[in-house]
Amino acid sequence: MIDTLDIEITPTSQSRLSQVDFDNLPFGKVFADHMLIAKYENGAWSRASIQPFGDISLSPATSMIHYGQSIFEGLKAFKSESNDILIFRPEENWKRMNASAVRMCMPEVPKEIFLGGLRQLIALDRNWVPNNSESALYIRPFLFATDAMLGVRPSETYTFMIITAPVGPYYVKPLHLKIETEFTRAALGGVGSAKAAGNYGAAMYPAMMAQKQGIDQLIWTDAKEHKYLEEAGTMNMMVVIDDTLITPPLKSTILPGITRKSFLELTKEAGFKVEERPVSAVEVIEAIQSGTLKELFGVGTAATTAQVEKLTFEGKTYDLPSNAHRVISNSIGQKLLRIKKGIDPDTHGWNMTL
Ligand code: COI
Repeated sequence: MIDTLDIEITPTSQSRLSQVDFDNLPFGKVFADHMLIAKYENGAWSRASIQPFGDISLSPATSMIHYGQSIFEGLKAFKSESNDILIFRPEENWKRMNASAVRMCMPEVPKEIFLGGLRQLIALDRNWVPNNSESALYIRPFLFATDAMLGVRPSETYTFMIITAPVGPYYVKPLHLKIETEFTRAALGGVGSAKAAGNYGAAMYPAMMAQKQGIDQLIWTDAKEHKYLEEAGTMNMMVVIDDTLITPPLKSTILPGITRKSFLELTKEAGFKVEERPVSAVEVIEAIQSGTLKELFGVGTAATTAQVEKLTFEGKTYDLPSNAHRVISNSIGQKLLRIKKGIDPDTHGWNMTL
């Protein structure tokens, strides 16, 4: 069904591929030749189509613009040494997109459109998948409301699209993070666990305030007490204290990261101790002071494994242990990358191969 999805394909007459400098890829500014589009109206999905990447036209009354019914996903395709294209855990993204859709009162995207469309789109643009070190083709599926109406109610029409972009790493250097204790990303019962566009927009002002002080990103804390760590920027948060990897447990304020889930699985398999439990800012600071904090890092599709070298909390900045001693993040981060690139065997069946 997925392989045989009937898609109308209009190939580009002029590929832009030769204009791309694959050795200097900014994140998310260069887009591959094609995009997928499928529309939902009268309770049903239309036949999907693949077209040259380009502008779309919308009514100024489009409800997504006014009321924010807009969700997205992020995943990556890698090129193996034998020139296979490997897409990492796309079914997980499909499931998470539909969980976000349910929370935002939007229609679920059928598996054959999401995965079947993805397959055909990436097959068409396979030459856009970079093959150097940590570069990848970043895949951005998204769904938004398209009713032209100003009434506050769920839209009756929607558009699902996939665009792709060859990218290098999201963070190019180790990070300086601040534990945020004033602003809130998500509250229990809100939409923090959905990949809702507004979550990212709402995080920009607090992040910008921190960036004015030379800080790269924020570690969000719980909305009630601002005591417990949640996410960091666009990543899930990981802490190693003594020999144990600790990460906050999933709940309605935390995005269920696919990199998070994969990282935890590989860490357990490698024989390290893993705990999913609340971790407070005070616990982290005390561990830094006593020398038991070994590693602090974020994980995400775009960010991969992002090391944190400095941490600010309540106006004080702490230097964290050097990267060279970070056993878990370095070994598991590398292992994950090797699986994604087909260097190590994919014993979990995580890759979709084209
Ligand atoms: C991803 O890792 O795919 C993200 O969602 C980060 C993105 C907002 C740049």
